[in-house]
Amino acid sequence: MLETIKRWMGSAESKGELTLEELTREVRNNPIPRHIGFIMDGNGRWAKKRGLPRTAGHLAGMKRVREIIRSADEIGVEAITLYSFSTENWKRPKEEVEYLMKLPIEFLKSDLQELIDRNVRVQMLGAKEETPTSTYRALVEFEEKTKDNTGLILNFAINYGSRDEILQAIREIIDEVQNGNIDKEQIDEQVVNQHLLTRGLPDPDLIIRTSGEMRISNFLLWQIAYSELWFTEALWPDFGREAFYQAIYDFQNRSRRYGAV
Ligand code: FPP
Repeated sequence: MLETIKRWMGSAESKGELTLEELTREVRNNPIPRHIGFIMDGNGRWAKKRGLPRTAGHLAGMKRVREIIRSADEIGVEAITLYSFSTENWKRPKEEVEYLMKLPIEFLKSDLQELIDRNVRVQMLGAKEETPTSTYRALVEFEEKTKDNTGLILNFAINYGSRDEILQAIREIIDEVQNGNIDKEQIDEQVVNQHLLTRGLPDPDLIIRTSGEMRISNFLLWQIAYSELWFTEALWPDFGREAFYQAIYDFQNRSRRYGAV
C-alpha cells in the first residue's frame, strides 16, 4: 500500500529527474501560470554558510532575480511579483536596510536596458514614496521607462505589506460609500480587487517560497486565496532556472478544484 501511495505521489510531484531541456519542453507544452509570486528567502543564511556578510547574500539574490526574469519571460509568464522588501524589513540593522535600498539603483544601472529590450513592464507594489530619495527615483525611472511595454509584467514588492494594502483598500471603499459613489451592498470581491495594489492583474496561480520556511509573511493575503503554494529547501541565491521550471512543472501536475470536487 505504501509503495502504491509513493507511486501516486511521484506522479503528482516530480522528483527532479528531468534534464533542464526536457523540463523546459514539458513546461512549454502545458498551460503556463499567468502570475507567479516569489518569497525570496534565505539570502542571509546563504552568506553565513560562506562566511560572508549578509549583504553578499542579497547581491547574489539580485543575480538570481535577473535569471528568474529571463526564465519567466522566455516561457511566456504574464506577470511575476517579487517580494523584495517588506514593511517589516525596516527592523533590520541600518547597514542592511541601506544596502537593500541600494539594490534597485544598482539593478537599474545594470538591467534597465535588457528589460526594455525584452519589452518588460516594471511596476512597484508598496509605499515607494517612503523609501530613500535615490531609491524612489530609481523605482520611478523603472516604471516611467517601461510603462508602454507590453510583455512580462515585473512587480517589485518594495516596502510592501499585505495587511497595510487591505487596510488602505478598506479606507478607500468606505470613502466611496460615504461619498455616495456605491452602496454598501454593492461591495463585492471585484470592488475589493479594484482597490488593491494588484488591480488589473490576475491573482497569482503559484507562490514560490525558498529556504524551507513555510509561511506567507504578509504577502498578497487576499490575492492568494486559490494559489498553489510551492516550497523548496533551496536558499534564494541557489534558486535558478531549473528549480523554477521544476516548480512550474509540479504546478502543472496538480489539480486545482477551487473548492469543487
Ligand atoms: C530575505 O532573505 C530576503 C530579503 C529580505 C531581500 C530580498 C531581496 C533580493 C533577493 C534582491 C532584490 C533585488 C532587487 C533588484 C530589488 P533573508 O535576508 O531574510 O535571509 P535569511 O532568512 O537567511 O536571513
